[in-house]
Amino acid sequence: LNYHVPRSRREILEILLKGLQRLEYRGYDSAGVGIDGGNNKDWESNAKSIHLIKQRGKVKVLDEEINKQQDIDLDVEFDVHLGIAHTRWATHGVPSPVNSHPQRSDKHNEFIVIHNGIITNYKDLRKFLESKGYEFESETDTETIAKLVKYMYDNRENNDISFATLVEQVTQQLEGAFALVFKSIHFPGEAVGTRRGSPMLIGVKSDHKLSTDHIPVLYRSSGKDKKSCTTLPRMDQDTCLFPVDEKAVEYYFASDASAVIEHTNRVIFLEDDDIAAVTEGRLSIHRIKRTAGDHPARAIQTLQMELQQIMKGNFSSFMQKEIFEQPESVVNTMRGRVNFDDNTVTLGGLKDHIKEIQRCRRLILIACGTSYHAGVATRQVLEELTELPVMVELASDFLDRNTPVFRDDVCFFISQSGETADSLLALRYCKEQGALTVGITNTVGSSISRETDCGVHINAGPEIGVASTKAYSSQFVALIMFALLMCDDRISMQPRRREIIQGLRVLPDLIKEVLSLDEEIQKLAAELYQQKSVLIMGRGYHYATCLEGALKIKEITYMHSEGILAGELKHGPLALIDKLMPVIMIIMRDHTYIKCQNALQQVVARQGRPIVICDKDDYETIKNSSRTIKVPHCVDCLQGILSVIPLQLLSFHLAVLRGYDVDCPRNLAKSVTVE
Ligand code: G6P
Repeated sequence: LNYHVPRSRREILEILLKGLQRLEYRGYDSAGVGIDGGNNKDWESNAKSIHLIKQRGKVKVLDEEINKQQDIDLDVEFDVHLGIAHTRWATHGVPSPVNSHPQRSDKHNEFIVIHNGIITNYKDLRKFLESKGYEFESETDTETIAKLVKYMYDNRENNDISFATLVEQVTQQLEGAFALVFKSIHFPGEAVGTRRGSPMLIGVKSDHKLSTDHIPVLYRSSGKDKKSCTTLPRMDQDTCLFPVDEKAVEYYFASDASAVIEHTNRVIFLEDDDIAAVTEGRLSIHRIKRTAGDHPARAIQTLQMELQQIMKGNFSSFMQKEIFEQPESVVNTMRGRVNFDDNTVTLGGLKDHIKEIQRCRRLILIACGTSYHAGVATRQVLEELTELPVMVELASDFLDRNTPVFRDDVCFFISQSGETADSLLALRYCKEQGALTVGITNTVGSSISRETDCGVHINAGPEIGVASTKAYSSQFVALIMFALLMCDDRISMQPRRREIIQGLRVLPDLIKEVLSLDEEIQKLAAELYQQKSVLIMGRGYHYATCLEGALKIKEITYMHSEGILAGELKHGPLALIDKLMPVIMIIMRDHTYIKCQNALQQVVARQGRPIVICDKDDYETIKNSSRTIKVPHCVDCLQGILSVIPLQLLSFHLAVLRGYDVDCPRNLAKSVTVE
């Protein structure tokens, strides 16, 4: 929303589409935009009609569609203008223009809305609205929201009802998860955004110094009879960002900071059930009532993110860039935390809780996808250094089982985005049981980082490629740092601690060495890319590598791939082996070495010709294998970071050779904010 910042419609659309492109990693099966419709200079009359453009496919298809539009003048300049745009990852209804967002209340586009999340009671709402004569055009859950806001408006008791109040009434009827932004011809130049369970932030751009770094929250009711106060004051001086005379300002409502960072680094993260409204260029945040633990203000934070971090640079895809960033991203994870001279580890986000964690009954690591694999990868070293039982759980399964959790448990939530719905729900469940909760996330201000009692930001920098790579190595390092911290006063553990810390010191250089195998791995990909399936086998520290490597291959190449625990080989998977089946084995010189050699023999005896990822000095394995990928040696518990990189590179090259879009694999989204 630009307020007294003159911009042409072309510029406004460019801002919206660029923002969508930055968010495309969250979903990209269709996209749409809703803008003020008129073509004359008077903004208020323009804003009395809304123009919608929606398309199936990626944002660039929408862009092409916009350029085909005959009835909108792209050069007309606006002093005030509000546009909303959305890129979709279908949950209800196939990708199609009519199912794309914005969804609308009626043919005249009186109210339009964009939505991330799922409305679980939409069927009941739809039935109710249909009984009132509303005709639905899409199969989406979101359309019920657009219709519901119109219903509330048409049936309002008070003619002065504010847009924020209307939205508040709507959200009271909604169940499920949502981040919503509304626009209406009845409220020209006003935007209302709200969230529950799905993230939303507001970027604030102004040439003026902001007159405050906090926005007080306005509570509509202090527990009084609800009916007595059905309207919010349209604006309250105390909640304004700017004095009235400093009007030139732009607001950006977005799901995450990558969409706004090129315009401003000053952002406000909304809390669940906040209703944020911009009216006459001023932002206010409302809530129904104050509850215990509520912070009565929202801070305007300054983000450290750089635009360059979310650009591809010289790489062909974000995933490739992120794979090659790992020597630096692991350094960023350790920066200021690991002291290689005196072998100490400091984690500021845990310091007030570490004693309590040391006294706990067990550690439970809960996550999804790649983040879950980071838990599997570090479980053994956590068990070793903490001497505690460690459980690693997939968030969805953990919830399905109603897993018993106790007050003296410590539950870790590992999540790149910090927004994964399954992990977030598991977090809330563990909090209810009274456990201490720890977040390991890459996204400052994310729901998981805010809702956990304490935590560690992995500081890997924004990760855009849907297939997670650098977040994995940084989560791995963060969990190792935690394990080291847990035993820093244990005399018997010191030699082992020193060995691991010195391993962390050389890790970035060793990662660089593995990355130099890129060409060799590209050649291997050229031999494999027409195969249907790839099996990846290993055990011990490298079981997680197998799972993670197979996940990468599945995600972006659409080949079947399975990570197999080598110890289970003879209990089934061996039946898959013949001379044609592509097999990758991971054999490193750690305590499972002999057993891995046995597995290799078993595969070779069935005419398998495995490609072996092994230690570059392991002449024995090199001699016995027809094909090897040789990686440098590191301390056993960190070796998994080095063994996974060849598989990250392999999946990347396979996907390129198979002609797929590496960053946007079909049917997937980076941040899954629905259950
Ligand atoms: C999605 C992504 C995966 C990711 C998983 C967990 O499935 O496609 O790449 O590993 O979510 O995401 P999180 O943000 O919680 O780490």
